[in-house]
Amino acid sequence: MSRFFDPLVGQPNRSANPSLESLIANPARRTLMRGATVASLASVLALEGCSVLGLSSGPLLGFQGIPVSADDAVKVPECYRADVVVAWGDPIGDARGMPAFQWNAGNSAAEQELQSGTHHDGMHYFPLPAGSTNSTHGLLVMNHEYPDHGGMFPDGTAGWSLEKVRKSQAALGCSVQEIRLVDGRWQMVRPSTYARRIHANTPMRIGGPAAGHPMMRTAASPDGRQAFGTFNNCANGYTPWGTYLSCEENVSFHFRAPKEATAMEERYELSPKVRFSFRWGEVDPRFDLNRNRNEGNHVGWVVEFDPYDPASVPVKRTALGRFSHEGATVTVCKDGRIAVYSGDDRGFEYLYKFVSSRPWNPTDRAANRDLLDDGTLYVARCLADGRGEWVELAHGANGLTAEAGFDSQAAVVMYARAAGDRVGATKMDRPEWIARHPRTGDLYVTLTNNASRGRDGREGPNPANPRAPNRHGHIMRWAEDGGDHAATRFRWETFILAGDPEHENPALRGDIRGDLFASPDGLFIDPRGVMWVQTDVSPSALLKDDHAIYGNNQVVAVDPATREARRFMTGPRGCELTGGCMTPDGRTLFVNVQHPGEAGALGTDPANPRRVSNWPDYRPDGRPRSGTVAVRRLDGGVVGT
Ligand code: FEO
Ligand code: CA
Ligand code: CA
Repeated sequence: MSRFFDPLVGQPNRSANPSLESLIANPARRTLMRGATVASLASVLALEGCSVLGLSSGPLLGFQGIPVSADDAVKVPECYRADVVVAWGDPIGDARGMPAFQWNAGNSAAEQELQSGTHHDGMHYFPLPAGSTNSTHGLLVMNHEYPDHGGMFPDGTAGWSLEKVRKSQAALGCSVQEIRLVDGRWQMVRPSTYARRIHANTPMRIGGPAAGHPMMRTAASPDGRQAFGTFNNCANGYTPWGTYLSCEENVSFHFRAPKEATAMEERYELSPKVRFSFRWGEVDPRFDLNRNRNEGNHVGWVVEFDPYDPASVPVKRTALGRFSHEGATVTVCKDGRIAVYSGDDRGFEYLYKFVSSRPWNPTDRAANRDLLDDGTLYVARCLADGRGEWVELAHGANGLTAEAGFDSQAAVVMYARAAGDRVGATKMDRPEWIARHPRTGDLYVTLTNNASRGRDGREGPNPANPRAPNRHGHIMRWAEDGGDHAATRFRWETFILAGDPEHENPALRGDIRGDLFASPDGLFIDPRGVMWVQTDVSPSALLKDDHAIYGNNQVVAVDPATREARRFMTGPRGCELTGGCMTPDGRTLFVNVQHPGEAGALGTDPANPRRVSNWPDYRPDGRPRSGTVAVRRLDGGVVGT
């Protein structure tokens, strides 16, 4: 590693939570288990073979790594516990109704609108009250990515109907859930004045350059300024003014494709060549592109909403571009402007950055309301010499002219992928989550895998994506010039190649130091500087062939300075782990378990829903459910120490 990337140097940490920093510096202030003194607790843990590193300012990774697992369970290190906080179908606490989950999946669409959505993904903890660092009471806000109709209905897709589609639509989007820590365990607060579901039919506003453009005008939105709903919400972001960003990823599967597609529609998979569909368009004409062509233009954006105000109208921020948004990682530039980093999670797609025109206002929350509607969108070009540049995607610049098909900035953001093609952006191996190191300001992106690289006439390796095929993925890191997120030049390097360092095939060989993992996806770096990598090996590959050694999907903690990886958590069968985030005090790590029980490309078999997994309830009459787990040290200490 070059000195340049030394995590111990760089710009000071503006965002680190002082309470956590002071806790690390002053272990005596840590909350201990009721009735235990430091000495007695240390001796108890030592007797049980547990690490006591959490009671001193020890190395960055202070826990005992755990083995891979093929079991149908969540596993964490000794001296930690993992409790389910909320699972698909649990009532969120909406005072209008709190319908219990029916174990045969028999809840109606109307009931689903009052319950937690399914396929939990990106997530953030917002302390209560707003602006505080309260780590025992807050709002857990999360995305719900896609539906599994085999698990969602007692009889699967039999008798496909509008009622079934409405339930499927109600199960996606976002949940706002109030939670409180009571005696070391997180509980839902029900009823809650904050509880809210946002789903595929929730009215929204369209902001930014595409608002009102003829391409946005639909039967449901004649002026092109209103949209209905958000879905396929993958990773996320959050702003310093306390709003949540939800990212629309693989939206094309939710439409009935047009009989013929334009080149631009092909570029966005709104095409008859896409065979898979969630079948909404068969009974809901809004999702049939043969009848409502522009509905496809309403998704693929980043949606911003205020979780503290349940009446707030979510806004699609079109200035950030339209693509399969994985996440939206917000950072503050040196002059106070806001940079938002986002990956386009498809093979050979791009890495983007948006920089706002104005600085954010730390003292007037309302002044930031539409900050993300004005700014500059960039796409990344990674050069062979380790340098890189952010190329501006602005109408009239860099060949993005009317002659080239971009007659306005609305066209540029609408067809950001094509704009990236035009300027020669670097084709990446499925950019997923992006995280910023809180002390150095370095950025890291997971490139989950790309089995098509170098195959079937597709592009072979490039400097930033060095393996073909790339079956196990990698993590790249970069530093903006001058440590400023507004910079247009950067330096990049490959941080970790996932995969087995002993593998005989160079394309499958990794350079991991420590515990092995594959297909990095979820990513965040906590205030102490621990990188938490969450994996998403596809259920079709889990436990098979070259993937057998990785076990079920997992969370590994990585020390960015040494690159050591240590396994912290393993998930139940068929799931991916994602959504990792922490309370401000670092004492709770929330992780989402998405799609337990998924097998291959198929969802759950309605005739045998427990065939692969029965997590988390293990009821003889139940079924696997996506859910959020809260991981805490038994002594209440900082997670990972
Ligand atoms: Fe929805 Fe890119 O994972
Ligand atoms: Ca993901
Ligand atoms: Ca993924």
